[in-house]
Amino acid sequence: MRHLMSPLDFSVAELDGLLELASDIEKHPQKYAHACGGKKLATCFYEPSTRTRLSFESAMLSLGGSVLGFSSADSSSASKGESVSDTIRVISCYADICAMRHPKEGAPLVASQKSTIPVINAGDGGHQHPTQTLTDLMTIRSLKGQLGDLTIGLCGDLKFGRTVHSLIHALIRYPNIRFVLISPEELRVPSYIREEVLQNNNIPFQEVERLEDAMSQLDILYMTRVQRERFFNEEDYVRMKDFYILDKQKMSLAKEDMLVLHPLPRVNEISVEVDDDPRAAYFRQARYGVYVRMALILTLLEITVSDAPDGKEQSC
Ligand code: CP
Repeated sequence: MRHLMSPLDFSVAELDGLLELASDIEKHPQKYAHACGGKKLATCFYEPSTRTRLSFESAMLSLGGSVLGFSSADSSSASKGESVSDTIRVISCYADICAMRHPKEGAPLVASQKSTIPVINAGDGGHQHPTQTLTDLMTIRSLKGQLGDLTIGLCGDLKFGRTVHSLIHALIRYPNIRFVLISPEELRVPSYIREEVLQNNNIPFQEVERLEDAMSQLDILYMTRVQRERFFNEEDYVRMKDFYILDKQKMSLAKEDMLVLHPLPRVNEISVEVDDDPRAAYFRQARYGVYVRMALILTLLEITVSDAPDGKEQSC
């Protein structure tokens, strides 16, 4: 039995296989429509979510399975003091696979150690968000045609941004990746990522404060939200929250084929006037999240689908 705690839990070859499967699901959804018949996904979300929880649920329903779960700690027995370890033992009796989001770093890992079903880390505090990374990789691969030879700008809250941390870990395994880390001084990437992940692996990167200084070099601009929920005081959040606003004027400095990604939700960091720019890929990215989570569920449940399930393949 496998769990997914970090994007590094899959080898590059396994990731390629998973992304290939996700692309096949995108092209031939009907082929997979009953693949998880009789299976149940539990979504145990101790922290708010729109995309991750609902895309997991959409993924399981699109595979013919069922879903159950809770969407806040308050609506579960965590509010009565139940531990994550006890909760997952019980959930293991009710479901075949579990996606868990938790505000505490490492909580899904603790759950996986007591679980008898595969556990997927759906975001743990400021640590990792591996299924967002799978989504990001599928988006880049589908829209750029490659995962190497890219200059990637990561902009915003690089300190607490778990999507950024997971994405850096995943992308350094591909050739000729270069990062431009765009953040205010207070929100720079943690030193363990700068030193142990980037410097130790000889990954070229530069750190800049002004988005305008980076735009012209980038193949991908990955914007992130300054996350109110990770700040210890409101004053610091208010000072940082509108540090970056991507607008048409800044987009005019970018390459014609640069892509703008964002894990969403956005607040003010991308002006809505950018949404109609063909380079704005963040809503397409959200759609890829469903296909890649379908592929992940199939992979962790070890379900393979032949080219002709139910005798035939239908176009969509
Ligand atoms: N990208 C992402 O994790 O969004 P949600 O918080 O809405 O799940």
